[in-house]
Amino acid sequence: MTHGRFITFEGIDGAGKSSHIEPLAAALRARGDEVVVTREPGGTALAEALRALFLELEMDALTEALLVFAARRDHLRLMIEPALMRGATVLCDRFTDATFAYQGGGRGFDWTVLERLEQWVQQGRQPDLTLWFDLAPEAAAARLAGARAADRLEREDREFFARVAAGYARRRAQAPRRFVCIAADRPREAVWEQVQAAVFSATESRSP
Ligand SMILES: Nc1ncnc2c1ncn2[C@@H]1O[C@H](COP(=O)(O)OP(=O)(O)OP(=O)(O)O)[C@@H](O)[C@H]1O
Ligand SMILES: [Mg+2]
Repeated sequence: MTHGRFITFEGIDGAGKSSHIEPLAAALRARGDEVVVTREPGGTALAEALRALFLELEMDALTEALLVFAARRDHLRLMIEPALMRGATVLCDRFTDATFAYQGGGRGFDWTVLERLEQWVQQGRQPDLTLWFDLAPEAAAARLAGARAADRLEREDREFFARVAAGYARRRAQAPRRFVCIAADRPREAVWEQVQAAVFSATESRSP
């Protein structure tokens, strides 16, 4: 059965994820792939509505976790799984690693509860490749300053983002083969080279 590739973009706010997702989609389409670009929380009407609530309203960490996994369930069912089944490449701006990093690392929410929700909602589905944009919180904050109005999570302090980064590192240690670390502190062109190397070298090495 043909099966598409599921590639996720992860890293703290301002690390450079969104800047590289459309160029990567264009490069994959130039090779003839069908590409679906999407994001979390979001991607479907229900999940985008949940995203708006999630980003605007104050809530506790369990409610955050339940909302993002509810959105993820809808997103997987209606968009991601059908796309992978028809052989498309799915590029997703954040996925479950972000839940572990933000709710688990940032908020200090119970890691094992998140793992249970993950199993329940994803039924074993995991990204084939995760591009982890690694950037110090100070550098990310400098990039974002003035770029656009901050949402509820982006207004958190530096210590919060340091805990988020530690949450990402813990997730990576649990699934090292899935992650490619992108040195996101480098100039844009150098970051783009790393993104292409991660995505295309994996494709090539899989071919018979
Ligand atoms: N390699 C780079 N060097 C310098 N600036 C960069 C680089 N990559 C992206 N930027 C700039 O940094 C800012 C944040 O980038 P981007 O929006 O891609 O980050 P993000 O990871 O998607 O952030 P968020 O999680 O908040 O959506 C943007 O203003 C972007 O133009
Ligand atoms: Mg972004």
